[in-house]
Amino acid sequence: MRPFPVSLAILIHLPIVIGTLSSKRLTSNFNKNDPVLLLEFQDLKAKHNPLSFGMGYPDFNPPKILQKALARAAVSDDYELNQYASSRGHPRLLKAVAAFFSKLLNRTLNPDENVVIAVGAQEAIHGILQAHTTTGDEWIVFSPYFSYFDPIIKAAYGVPKYIPLVSSKTTGNITSSDFKFDKKDLASLFNHKTKGILVNTPHNPTGKVFDYEELAYIANLAKKWDSIVILDEVYQFLNYGNQQHLRLATFPGMFERTITVGSGGKMFSATGYRIGWAYGPKDLINNVKLVNGFAVMSAPTPIQEAVAVAIEEEDDNYGKPESYIEQLRRESEKKRNFMYKILSDAGMTPVFAESGYFIIARWNTMVNTFQLHRKSDEPADYSFVRWLIKNVSVFANPLSRFYTSDIDSHVEEHYIRFTMIKKWETLGQLDRLLKKWKSRRSLKQ
Ligand SMILES: Cc1ncc(COP(=O)(O)O)c(C=O)c1O
Repeated sequence: MRPFPVSLAILIHLPIVIGTLSSKRLTSNFNKNDPVLLLEFQDLKAKHNPLSFGMGYPDFNPPKILQKALARAAVSDDYELNQYASSRGHPRLLKAVAAFFSKLLNRTLNPDENVVIAVGAQEAIHGILQAHTTTGDEWIVFSPYFSYFDPIIKAAYGVPKYIPLVSSKTTGNITSSDFKFDKKDLASLFNHKTKGILVNTPHNPTGKVFDYEELAYIANLAKKWDSIVILDEVYQFLNYGNQQHLRLATFPGMFERTITVGSGGKMFSATGYRIGWAYGPKDLINNVKLVNGFAVMSAPTPIQEAVAVAIEEEDDNYGKPESYIEQLRRESEKKRNFMYKILSDAGMTPVFAESGYFIIARWNTMVNTFQLHRKSDEPADYSFVRWLIKNVSVFANPLSRFYTSDIDSHVEEHYIRFTMIKKWETLGQLDRLLKKWKSRRSLKQ
């Protein structure tokens, strides 16, 4: 049989091939992180099975009260606990959130008007952005940032505008409060297209806690430009040392324009429960309720019930030694101290995180101590993380993932981010792996 001419075959199939490929392509809104690189890391992790400090979740269980409340809700005779909740939230959880945060804000939140429940803080932020963004609206974001902010702003047809948080110190004792923004630069980002600003305090990934002066400056700009503030406070109960968490919604004239977001997952070490909330003025919250109704209908009812029970208990124990969030805070602070020490001992320059789940560390102090095979077109932290997986059996996140490449001169690639919210046993394992690596290095010298 005569072979089918190749050129003819291409011509016949070309329209189909092109059509199929372009229709399958992921929209560029979600393409910030190079998907090929991410897949490569997944493969590397599967092959080398490193100890993982990449994603921000605990490797221990939530408090028993939460687990038991979920079990009770699931087998309850009350059928309503196993059916859709209202799209604004399950009444018991709305009430618990309103009561707990009313105390912290020193203002009464109405559970039916000022609170909405979402599928995690992430979905709450997604809903807020969808509800308030018209094509081309600008949102100001502090950079580095929780890596979902960029794609979800773009998915709402908004335009992210970045304001860098930069530390002028690169050696010696660096703390998260050394990461500052230039006030004039921030002021110059506000304009008539600015819809709002997203403030994440305590901050992921640096551990920075925004201070009074910084928040007051942001508040004045938001008022001047009539902008909304989204306050992402998912790490609000994890402040270390003397750091005090200040709530922007309590600043004069700010409640009316601030939507504050919290996370049941982060509050109770139960990130898989996927319960978050937002509170704020009635009109803004109403918009979010509508959007959330269209997007997810409601967060899972039995899990909302369980989180409500845990918040009620926390409300009773707040400020007392029995408080779960206070116990978690104290324990996490000790873990922060331990992580700071072992990363320093390993030869890195960690940033003393004053809050939260994470600690970032400058690794390039050690760059001459091993062969780093760097691919020419990728940030150096990716090459280092690849090297770390293969040679030390440890995974941490390259900090470039928390930036957009056009904003600064690759400061980010000198850092990697470790999750600290792990069992002591896991932290001990990390210590041993880092020590082993260090002794191998000193043998070579
Ligand atoms: C700053 C920040 N905001 C929001 C979230 C999402 O929280 P949730 O798990 O409740 O969706 C995270 C999760 O890591 C985060 O770091």
